[in-house]
Amino acid sequence: MKAICIAALALTASLPLWAAEPDAALIKQGEYLARAGDCVACHTAKGGQPFAGGLAMETPIGTVYSTNITPDASGIGHYSFEDFDKAVRHGIGKSGSSLYPAMPYPSYARVTDADMQALYAYFMKGVAPVAEPNKDTDIPWPLSMRWPLAIWRTLFAPEVEGYQAPMGSDPVISRGAYLVEGLGHCGACHTPRAITMQEKAMSAGESAEFLAGSAPLEGWIAKSLRGDHRDGLGSWSEEQLVQFLKTGRSDRSAVFGGMSDVVEHSMQYMSTEDLTAIARYLKTLPAVDRNDQPHQYDKQVADALWQGDDSKPGASVYIDNCAACHRTDGHGYNRVFPALAGNPVVQTDDASSLIHIVLAGGTLPATHTAPSTFTMPGFAWRLSDQEVADVVNFIRTSWGNQGRAVSAADVKGMRTDDMKHTSGDDLGQSTSH
Ligand code: HEC
Ligand code: HEC
Ligand code: HEC
Repeated sequence: MKAICIAALALTASLPLWAAEPDAALIKQGEYLARAGDCVACHTAKGGQPFAGGLAMETPIGTVYSTNITPDASGIGHYSFEDFDKAVRHGIGKSGSSLYPAMPYPSYARVTDADMQALYAYFMKGVAPVAEPNKDTDIPWPLSMRWPLAIWRTLFAPEVEGYQAPMGSDPVISRGAYLVEGLGHCGACHTPRAITMQEKAMSAGESAEFLAGSAPLEGWIAKSLRGDHRDGLGSWSEEQLVQFLKTGRSDRSAVFGGMSDVVEHSMQYMSTEDLTAIARYLKTLPAVDRNDQPHQYDKQVADALWQGDDSKPGASVYIDNCAACHRTDGHGYNRVFPALAGNPVVQTDDASSLIHIVLAGGTLPATHTAPSTFTMPGFAWRLSDQEVADVVNFIRTSWGNQGRAVSAADVKGMRTDDMKHTSGDDLGQSTSH
């Protein structure tokens, strides 16, 4: 009798364990959520094994390295669900010290418990273990002490509470809010930061600064995603947004800078339903500028160029270097060479991205549904600071565009050494001044 009791006890004791063994469906769900969170983009070094960490990330006080999050002993192999959850949603490492907010745990704080379980199942059972020791930060002492991070965390990190849709809200828009404000951590790049580095708003409900555009990050602006026509997404349709996130291109724009990684590693894997939810939610964000108006195409410049009149400053630089692809009417070629007319990227107040792409060029990344890549050459070796400023001002004020003027000094400040060495000086053009 006693033996049977013990056997029964053992059976019931082992039952929850067996039931908790992650099944294939849960691991698959976790893999999808890891895509939504773009964990791979930060936790993989250039040329390194997926999730093995070691990618250098610049912060205002020095370089931090992402960590190994594979289930190896050198990674998170020993992490319980609670350890994992503490790191991902609370910003506290297994050793108990606070993480740098380069890990976007303030956004992940909104992830639901159920989704955390799926992520944990995936990282423990669906990811190959890689032995790779973590690197220390390059931050000098005393700034390297982690206790101030705990203070930062208490002051600025939001409460960890799984996202709850407001009563009576549209389920599609709520799903979009969950993905954008949570796992997608779109605000980590697109929301302006305070001097103490926290994002000025973590959700649409908080303030109009949410997703209102950032200061330059590695020379690129993560621009406004709010409803403004001139510099936001006011003139984009839901369909165009879905296209852009899935393929990196639409009939309006082409992806570049830090957003290329987001499309390549994360958004292209999202289901059409989830991309639609993200797009529909973004389209609910009101414009910031109360005088904002839809773009009005003005054909004056196109007509002048067509008649061979290049008297407008920058027009001849444009004809010689840009018009073959972006065309004299600024309409480009649909889904191949982006339109410049009415393009919010061209009209954003801070012109860093524009100057950067003219100097360095860019390559449209290949995605599963849009495998062809197109490249814009860099012009750093070919155009002087003044010529770059002229052509940037030309595209910012032609075809009805309205963008502030930039100066040759702005261009000079954005040149970097690797741009200068992109040679071709045999054409005898000046490089920099
Ligand atoms: C924007 C870059 C970025 C993204 C995206 C990101 N991480 Fe991190 N993560 C980091 C950095 C940097 C650290 C190290 C922070 C530190 O050392 O203080 C880190 C640390 C961690 C840790 C702590 C490991 C430890 O030593 O305790 C875990 C766990 C983790 N990340 C999991 C994830 C998961 C899961 C995702 C996706 C849902 C993710 N991260 C997405 C940058 C990122
Ligand atoms: C690593 C930083 C980063 C993250 C994270 C990020 N973005 Fe971006 N995003 C950028 C940059 C930089 C640009 C400007 C380049 C461009 O327009 O392609 C951009 C541009 C865009 C554009 C094009 C806007 C236009 O007018 O051309 C859209 C739409 C967009 N992001 C949506 C999102 C969404 C949705 C998310 C979250 C799922 C997100 N981004 C997360 C950096 C980021
Ligand atoms: C060979 C064709 C080609 C030429 C010449 C060219 N571009 Fe581009 N341009 C492209 C392609 C392709 C992209 C998309 C690049 C990417 O996604 O990284 C692009 C992107 C841009 C963008 C970003 C728009 C957006 O929404 O993504 C701007 C602005 C731009 N080009 C301006 C210029 C200017 C100014 C010149 C002349 C100095 C020029 N281009 C010359 C092909 C070209």
